[in-house]
Order: sequence, then structure tokens, then C-alpha cells
Amino acid sequence: MQITFLGHACFYLKTPQTKIIIDPYLSENPQAAAKPEEIDSDWILVTHGHQDHLGDAVGIAKQNNATIVTITEVARYCAVRGAKAHAMYIGGKHQFGDFTVKLTNALHGSSIGTNPVEYLGQPCGFLLFGEGKTIYYAGDTGLFGDMELIGRLHPVDLAILPIGDNFTMGPEDALEAVKMLKPAQVVPMHYNTWDIISQDPQAFKAVVEKETGALVTILKPGATLEL
Ligand code: NI
Ligand code: MN
Repeated sequence: MQITFLGHACFYLKTPQTKIIIDPYLSENPQAAAKPEEIDSDWILVTHGHQDHLGDAVGIAKQNNATIVTITEVARYCAVRGAKAHAMYIGGKHQFGDFTVKLTNALHGSSIGTNPVEYLGQPCGFLLFGEGKTIYYAGDTGLFGDMELIGRLHPVDLAILPIGDNFTMGPEDALEAVKMLKPAQVVPMHYNTWDIISQDPQAFKAVVEKETGALVTILKPGATLEL
């Protein structure tokens, strides 16, 4: 499969049969490597309601007649705005095209708006199983010990982990996440979008590859990885 980084926490996965976009924050994303109207997608996976993740999901769903796959409260939010939505919750899995998607825990929040703030349930991460590969997309999260359980139950080929700090894990905790998950490969995300999450991914790569068996692949926005 092809995995393309579209900037911040947005990834596009493509097999011959299935096209998935995760956390499609594009129109307001300073790193965006695509415009929302360019996205051709069957399924839109959304980890939580924060604008840098829910982003352009509703518009992309409508233009593609695609389905948003997300936490129940976010699914309702999207459905009342006219998008097709498939509601799930943490621990559950379901098949979408070539992929089975399982929702994982994430230590974070999930809300949208300011006056008032609308809370949108629990945030999540995703395990994606497709073409014999397992991808763990952590979403926005702090470090948690059950990452060890995720790695033990589902040998991970690729872990996509936030390293930006402030809102999520920083590089030191992401290193601990790699030690627990034991993935073959790691792609960092959610950094350098704004100054507050400025990080050096080369330094992260150096320490992770020195201290673990994982290969770290740094993707520039627009770059594609073959898995
Ligand atoms: Ni967030
Ligand atoms: Mn975020």
C-alpha cells in the first residue's frame, strides 16, 4: 500500500481497492500537501473533534459520497451536517474495503467550537489491518502504558506517532512508546506545524534507531511511503 503524509496529522492510504484519509485537516493546515477538493477517498477516519483533525472531513465526505468513520459523538456531529458517518467506539473493529479498523484509546480531549465548547466524546487512535500489514495511528495522545498491550496483541509494522509535545507526546515519551509498541517502522507526525510544536525529527530518528530496533522514516508533507 501507499501511505502519503499530507501535513500535520493527515495521512492518505491507498491500496488497489481502497482509499482512506485520516484526520483530513487541509484547508487551514500550514503544511497541507493537498487541497480538500483534490482528495479522492472512500473512507475518512477521524480520531477526535479538534479542528486540526476533523478539519475538512464533512466536505470531503460529501464531495466523494464517502463515509466518515469515527467516535459516536463525532459521527453524530458530521451526520447532522449532511455527511455519511459510521459510528464506533474504543475497542471495536469493523471492515472498510481492504482494511479492518480497530479503535484504540488515546489520552487527549475532543471538542469543537468556543461559545459554547461542544464536547464530542472520547478521542481515539486507530489500528488498521490491511494487505497483511498492521498500522498503528496513535492520534493525539500522551504516553500510556497500554501501548505495550497494543504491541503485544497486534505486531505493528508501522507506528505513526505524535512527537510535537505541548498537546501530545513529545520526543522523549514517543521513544518510550516505541519501546512498548515494538514496531518495525515509525513515522513521526504532529510537529513543526506551528512554533509551539517545533521539534527536530532527525534527532528523534537518531535516538529511536540507537535505542530500539525500529526504523524511523521522516516524511515531508507530500511524501509517500510504500509499506
Ligand atoms: Ni487534538
Ligand atoms: Mn492535534
